[in-house]
Amino acid sequence: TFPTRIFSGIQPSGGLTLGNYLGALKRFVEKQDQGIETIYCLVDMHAITVWQDPERLRHQTREAAAAFIAAGIDPKRSILFNQSQVGAHAELAWIFNCIARMGWMGRMTQWKDKTAGKNAEAQSLGLFAYPALMAADILVYRATHVPVGEDQKQHIELTRDIAIKFNNDYGVNFFPVAEPVIEGAAARVMSLRDGTKKMSKSDPSDQSRINLTDDADTIAKKFRKAKTDPEPLPDTVEGLADRPEARNLVNIYAGLSGTTAPEVLAQYGGAQFGTFKPALADLAVSVLSPITTEMNRLMADPAEIDRILGDGADRADAIARPVLEEVYDIVGM
Ligand code: ADP
Ligand code: NA
Repeated sequence: TFPTRIFSGIQPSGGLTLGNYLGALKRFVEKQDQGIETIYCLVDMHAITVWQDPERLRHQTREAAAAFIAAGIDPKRSILFNQSQVGAHAELAWIFNCIARMGWMGRMTQWKDKTAGKNAEAQSLGLFAYPALMAADILVYRATHVPVGEDQKQHIELTRDIAIKFNNDYGVNFFPVAEPVIEGAAARVMSLRDGTKKMSKSDPSDQSRINLTDDADTIAKKFRKAKTDPEPLPDTVEGLADRPEARNLVNIYAGLSGTTAPEVLAQYGGAQFGTFKPALADLAVSVLSPITTEMNRLMADPAEIDRILGDGADRADAIARPVLEEVYDIVGM
């Protein structure tokens, strides 16, 4: 009963990484190019759940917008905007704060990971409530599908729980039960320094990730220094089972080349990392350097980026505001 509509977002809490590109951006472009209605958001209000320097946040938001466009998002075919410019997200989030239960939030593994070894009592209330805002981001457009990396799966499940509870509590069929869309070899790109941790823009070590702004030499060096084991690559994926670092590099190669891990191993099985790493670095440079060049060109004109985001916000608001008005009516406001 709900028309197919895609929503997804990325936090402008740092420069975007190869993980964001393969797990999110690349697939956002594919959905747009399939002619589906696509709404993409720079979720700056999520970013401030941990401290962000204001000038840096402004810069990173523009840089993330430039990354989207450079990667192939067409701001005419997709709606591209930043979250804080469309007030309906925060307004619906408040209603969802009253639908969601404390226990649901406390079970989120990202909350547990982000507070591990820290004093949870000293974290922002926003960091705890973050998944309710994420549910509002999605449901304020009544989006049906959410392309994300593997790490966001649990938050989408929570979004579904919120939609179901809202519909039940008020006896309506108002919100769709949105589906996560998690696909591809590189749905979970891992750190180059530790194959058990995801590659993230918020990892303190710059060596752990490839940034979309890294130049060719930096990319080559980071792959050369990437942690690996001494064995050559296996012939089949079964041989990657307890080799997280090797598996990660093979998955990255598959993601960048649009193939699968078995196809990569059909070509490189038996090869040493001394051979595979430079091939991977060359492939990464050939995919990423046109994006980096285009990002730099776009960043030279910040006013144009702001204009694009402003236009996107107007179009997003035109969808979100009437949905929110209906929600207020359902709730008795
Ligand atoms: P980050 O963890 O880099 O701050 P976000 O939380 O802003 O990233 O996530 C933005 C999108 O990028 C989400 O869809 C997320 O699933 C995806 N993503 C982030 N890191 C990775 C990764 N290492 N591998 C695959 N997808 C990722
Ligand atoms: Na994250």
